[in-house]
Amino acid sequence: MPNICIHDKIFTPFLNAHIIGEKVDALARQISQDYAGKKPLFIPILNGSFIFAADLFKKITIEAEICFIKLASYKGTRSSGQVITAIGLDIDLFNRHVIIVEDIVDTGKTLSAFLPQLIHQQPASLKIAALLLKPAATQFPVTVDYTGFSIPNKFVLGYGLDYNGLGRNFAEIYELLEQ
Ligand code: IMP
Repeated sequence: MPNICIHDKIFTPFLNAHIIGEKVDALARQISQDYAGKKPLFIPILNGSFIFAADLFKKITIEAEICFIKLASYKGTRSSGQVITAIGLDIDLFNRHVIIVEDIVDTGKTLSAFLPQLIHQQPASLKIAALLLKPAATQFPVTVDYTGFSIPNKFVLGYGLDYNGLGRNFAEIYELLEQ
């Protein structure tokens, strides 16, 4: 895979589609096993998680529901961390087994701001599945229960993740080439 140029920056291949696919399948198998008989409710956070959530959900083999929501904005190559609003959550979470689906947990600010709102609704359980986790970037600790890949503290795009709106459509994940 060659390097790519998005806006003003060069990105280099980091995780190929095959490796991502295998990891997503493994996560789906684990979740299907852990939640058998519990009819979990998947809540993916848009926009970044739409591809991961779709691929994951396709491989879930048990009865499950999904409800996409939109929460926060992210500008440039650093997390703004600003939660704007939560829209689209039209299912009652009371007594439900909820799995939040995130593309990436960076500083943790987005989830740490949002989780109390969900806990308030008294779900039976609340866990987080994130494709990517940047442990070195953590500022607001959140427990990620299902992690795809722990990655270095570098900006990445592709497979749903963007850099200023572009790059979501790549099947692979690229990392910013520091120059
Ligand atoms: P956090 O609140 O800092 O954990 O950031 C969470 C959100 O920021 C993610 O859901 C992404 O939308 C965005 N984000 C964080 N790091 C990256 C990155 O490396 N590439 C693209 N988006 C990112």
